[in-house]
Amino acid sequence: MVDQPLLRVRNLTRSFPVQGGFFNRIVNYVRAVDDISFEINGAKTLGLIGESGCGKTTVAKLILRLIEPDSGEVMFDGAHVLDFDAAQLRALRARIQMIYQDPYSSLNPRMKVFDIIAEPLNIHYGHQLSAKEIRHRVVDLVKRVGLHENDLGKYPHMFSGGQRQRIGIARALILQPQLLVLDEPTSALDVSIQAKLLKLLLQLQREMQLTFLFISHDMRVIQLMADDVAVMYLGKIVEYGPIEDVFSNPRHPYTQALLAAMPTPDPGNRLDKLVQLKGEIGDPSNIPAGCPFWPRCPQKIGEICERKPPQLLPVNQTTAVSCHLYHEPGHEDFSPLGKSDEILARR
Ligand SMILES: Nc1ncnc2c1ncn2[C@@H]1O[C@H](COP(=O)(O)OP(=O)(O)OP(=O)(O)O)[C@@H](O)[C@H]1O
Ligand SMILES: [Mg+2]
Repeated sequence: MVDQPLLRVRNLTRSFPVQGGFFNRIVNYVRAVDDISFEINGAKTLGLIGESGCGKTTVAKLILRLIEPDSGEVMFDGAHVLDFDAAQLRALRARIQMIYQDPYSSLNPRMKVFDIIAEPLNIHYGHQLSAKEIRHRVVDLVKRVGLHENDLGKYPHMFSGGQRQRIGIARALILQPQLLVLDEPTSALDVSIQAKLLKLLLQLQREMQLTFLFISHDMRVIQLMADDVAVMYLGKIVEYGPIEDVFSNPRHPYTQALLAAMPTPDPGNRLDKLVQLKGEIGDPSNIPAGCPFWPRCPQKIGEICERKPPQLLPVNQTTAVSCHLYHEPGHEDFSPLGKSDEILARR
């Protein structure tokens, strides 16, 4: 039986106005998230990867409705999030928690660790839980994230970056959420601290059956953490599939370039076609016609890439790619399969 996904996103789109000129009028729009669809089954991890500015954080905020989409659909546990009223949204925000890159800015410097972790409990269930029960839950959780009970009386500035992120994780978990949206949670940390935190997150995921949307610009982190990966470029998903398939046989030239940039690529990988990525990610307020990646693409077929926007279409039973290399008749890699929606339905 196919599991019902815990999170299902369809055709999500959001633009931002760009203001400028003497009168600060709207002069353009940034297509931050452009027609994105994906889903995550319970207790699984989807890794969302792409360069700075490609729209990853905007996707996260749209799911939590911290910002509203222009169009699209977000379904969480079978319910339409975009139709939620204020009370339903409050309840949703207990079930979906976000963890940010910079733990310091998300922790109130004037509150003790105990109060920081207990605050969501007090807000959501304060009148239902005794002080003893709240203390019990906070102590239990602070130990689970690798801190000590006597840390609860300290302030955030008394901890290292890695320890502060552990406090942030404890705060996010205190309401026993189902989905964690982790936005570059370890990117600000040293490599060794990062590895310990990632291990902790995997352990907590197993123990608490958590589902992760894990955002990163680091392919190694995604490889370690994720079951599936969605590769984003200028607001669009360009490749989407299980980690094993995408990492062993990357198809989109952008995915290939990201993998080639990994410091220690697996020598068994199909690296012969992989090349270094040149130039910067394009300007999201001035996305090229056709394929957004064509100005940087080392495998451009020809004019079609500059003119026709490719669609995210299946290349096999599990993986979809948005690239004319695979979907244009006459090309060696052409594979006439169905719609990417069919892949999502089969998963
Ligand atoms: N509130 C906003 N107003 C205007 N433009 C915005 C806003 N939020 C995001 N953008 C623009 O949308 C695009 C996507 O931004 P987003 O923060 O989602 O990217 P990102 O992939 O998370 O980048 P990073 O890896 O640097 O965190 C960028 O061009 C950004 O400037
Ligand atoms: Mg971001």
